[in-house]
Amino acid sequence: MESFQIFTLFCSLLLSSVLEFSSAVDTITPNHPLIDGQTLSSSSNSFELGFFYPGSSNNRYLGIWHRKSPGAVLWVANRNNPLTDLSGVLEIGNKGDLVLLSKSKNIVWSSNASRPLTNPVAQLLDSGNLILKDSRAGFSDENHQWQSFDHPTDTVLPGMKIGWNLTSGEERYLASWKSVDDPSPGEFTYRLDNHGPAAQLIIFKGDVKKVRLGPWNGLFYGSIPVLKNPIFKSILVHSKDELYYTDQLLSSSAISRVTVNSSGSLQVSVMYEMGAEWTNLLSWPFDTCDNYGHCGANAICRTNKAPTCDCLKGFIPKSQGDVTLQNWFESRSCKRMTEYCQREEGFLRIAGVKVPDLLKFQLNESMDLKECETQCFWNCSCIAYGNSDMSRGGSGCLMWFGDLIDVREQPAVTSGQDLYVRVPASELTSVRDSNTKKRLKTIMAVTIPTLSAFLVLGLVFCTSCKKRKGTVSENDDIEVPTFDLDTISLATNYFSKANIIGEGGFGSVYKGRLLTGQEIAVKKLSRNSGQGIQEFRNEVVLIAKLQHKNLVGLVGSCIQGEDRMLVYEYMPNKSLDYFIFDGERSTLLGWQKRFNIVLGIAKGLLYLHQDSKLQIIHRDLKPSNILLDSKLNPKISDFGLARIFGEDGNEAKTKRVVGTYGYMSPEYAIDGTFSVKSDVFSLGVILLEIVTGKKNRRFFHPDHHHNLLGHAWLLWKQDKALELMDPSLAETCIKSQLVRCIHVGLLCVQKHPDDRPTMSSVVFMLGIEGVVLAQPKEPGYFFVERCSAMDAAVPGKETMYSINAVSTTSVLEGR
Ligand SMILES: *[C@@H]1O[C@H](CO)[C@@H](O)[C@H](O)[C@H]1NC(C)=O
Ligand SMILES: *[C@@H]1O[C@H](CO)[C@@H](O)[C@H](O)[C@H]1NC(C)=O
Ligand SMILES: *[C@@H]1O[C@H](CO)[C@@H](O)[C@H](O)[C@H]1NC(C)=O
Ligand SMILES: *[C@@H]1O[C@H](CO)[C@@H](O)[C@H](O)[C@H]1NC(C)=O
Ligand SMILES: *[C@@H]1O[C@H](CO)[C@@H](O)[C@H](O)[C@H]1NC(C)=O
Ligand SMILES: *[C@@H]1O[C@H](CO)[C@@H](O)[C@H](O)[C@H]1NC(C)=O
Repeated sequence: MESFQIFTLFCSLLLSSVLEFSSAVDTITPNHPLIDGQTLSSSSNSFELGFFYPGSSNNRYLGIWHRKSPGAVLWVANRNNPLTDLSGVLEIGNKGDLVLLSKSKNIVWSSNASRPLTNPVAQLLDSGNLILKDSRAGFSDENHQWQSFDHPTDTVLPGMKIGWNLTSGEERYLASWKSVDDPSPGEFTYRLDNHGPAAQLIIFKGDVKKVRLGPWNGLFYGSIPVLKNPIFKSILVHSKDELYYTDQLLSSSAISRVTVNSSGSLQVSVMYEMGAEWTNLLSWPFDTCDNYGHCGANAICRTNKAPTCDCLKGFIPKSQGDVTLQNWFESRSCKRMTEYCQREEGFLRIAGVKVPDLLKFQLNESMDLKECETQCFWNCSCIAYGNSDMSRGGSGCLMWFGDLIDVREQPAVTSGQDLYVRVPASELTSVRDSNTKKRLKTIMAVTIPTLSAFLVLGLVFCTSCKKRKGTVSENDDIEVPTFDLDTISLATNYFSKANIIGEGGFGSVYKGRLLTGQEIAVKKLSRNSGQGIQEFRNEVVLIAKLQHKNLVGLVGSCIQGEDRMLVYEYMPNKSLDYFIFDGERSTLLGWQKRFNIVLGIAKGLLYLHQDSKLQIIHRDLKPSNILLDSKLNPKISDFGLARIFGEDGNEAKTKRVVGTYGYMSPEYAIDGTFSVKSDVFSLGVILLEIVTGKKNRRFFHPDHHHNLLGHAWLLWKQDKALELMDPSLAETCIKSQLVRCIHVGLLCVQKHPDDRPTMSSVVFMLGIEGVVLAQPKEPGYFFVERCSAMDAAVPGKETMYSINAVSTTSVLEGR
């Protein structure tokens, strides 16, 4: 009897100690391994670690599950390496790591801890995380040596990270079980792509995208906004070293999980405290439109309409002829209705969609929707754009280049995003959506103020692509684009010295590139104009109206405080002086090119003097103001600058002489009187310089002290004009043309303005063979100049002087 009592006591003690062991223990220490049949419980008894058979398999695995739902295993240790019997032991190995041993003491699985711990202990936390750490460090999530959360299998629990360690490039993702009976990695993975703040969650089958949840937009992942529930929320964390998706629990009395099952479905489940089982909230894919790229390229998938697939506006089916439902699915994809940037275009808003896959795209978080539109508009490969961040009312810019893949209309319950797709303008007006019309107006008139101006100006429609010349002269309501300083600063790399391509008395010229890709030359005027903003604007408008193929086109202007800037087309081949005065480069300009340049300058000047509505006197014509386009056609620059500097074009005498020595007519340099004939004088000098390849001012001859004009005159009188020819023209020169150029040049540099021809005569004389020309007299101003004090003061620099006529006179008299 006694012995029986002792036995039962012993038994109950044993039993209670076993029970106690299995219920109270949440740690494994070197002295307390976990053997098959036992489980480790988290402190509040929610999660368990133990051994299990998956489905109908006879293999044994170590895993973690929720105590109320042991059938749903959330993590598996030895998913690649099953045990075949019940002899498995999980213990602290002799390197201080966690090891799973088989009957024969083979290591079936190991935590591979990188550094040995002196007092290692493994603990199952209430989050479902199994951690290995030093016992003296206290039990907390931190300071662990190893944790199961870093090695997810097919399930995300709140607190787990799916994504990237950006430092090491290591990726964490879910891999489905092969089948319900086999936890080894199957063909489906659930991964975050590495697109920074717009990272997308995607289910892959092997390497192929199967379901795309869409980019993170600050609030949710593309197509799963509905998961508005009181239990958890999904977020994206993007820091310097990490980019990951994680779920955050909102309620302490419930738990959530996301699992990719063995047939590639994503299951979102929750377990309420009171509940006994996991409740499935949602499964993905939800409908056919969730299947990646279901409708092919540039199409939209809609489940509530027939047919499900339709081309996006502005696109047509790729296959020609009747598109039946049948061949739609065969051909699927859609192509552009028209090539982009060939005619007027705008953007059509498509509301409530899952935005296209991020294949070829650009993301800028600091741009707003307007800037995004502008930038997309001006880049002909940009097909669509939209906000990248929907929180705070929308911000950031996503631009898509190339085909738009996997766009779907979101079911009504969810809130998709707005996508703006480039379409021909005809598509915009035909749509009866008032919003759309408004957008069209916006695009045409407000959003891109420069655009409408471009349209009116007829300069360009899409600068980065085709340029279209328009009829400007008929339109008096000309608007010249004004650029803000930020735009110009950015374009010129903040007026970097390296961007300076020219300097002169009117200011400095910077090379620049607008965000649209258009190259520009920015003339930053020196600050001494003393002109008001309105006057400046008026002058700019007047100048912008001057349009001729031999004048540099004005693109716009910029006013900021005292600073005034003129924005011109950029001319890739620099200016005339760069070529003709350089021994090597002069060979690049053969006679045909030079004669073409001579004619072009003459025609441009004729237009300024007589053919435009205004009469513009250039007053600073010289080779460095003759720019050359990509085909080496001449374009006169800096015309009208004198007007901007407050010189009244109708006044024939000025106190302030602007111009460059060597090109200034005598009457202008001496008296400050000028007329169209002052420009003719400058042109004459240029003609002689083009023919000879020598500078009037720098001209030196051992036999006499004359400048180039004097030298030309001497040779002309001796009938030796051909000796003036630049030797590099020997092979290409047409002698009669060359002599005519010298002849006309000498007529242009006559001392008395009345003796000089008008520009129409110049153009006539140059252009027609066999016309008998008047004989020139001695040119004006042909030997004085090299002795002038001005010359000595600024050696080697061809600068525009702004001087007072009186001092010029005294300098000249004082020689
Ligand atoms: C541990 O390391 C071994 C060998 O480096 C490797 O085969 C095994 O997969 C690793 N185990 C874990 C759980 O990372
Ligand atoms: C990322 O990897 C680096 C290098 O392996 C490691 O030092 C760092 O701790 C890792 N970061 C995180 C958050 O795991
Ligand atoms: C995976 O989930 C989907 C959707 O809930 C379900 O239809 C399918 O049967 C599941 N597959 C397995 C193997 O459980
Ligand atoms: C983003 O846009 C802003 C404003 O337009 C610009 O200043 C910035 O350089 C852009 N960033 C990138 C990376 O392009
Ligand atoms: C348009 O954008 C693409 C992609 O960013 C870029 O490669 C291309 O240079 C841009 N084109 C122009 C004209 O700016
Ligand atoms: C003129 O510019 C074009 C385009 O930039 C270039 O291809 C050509 O080589 C240039 N010509 C000369 C003579 O430099």
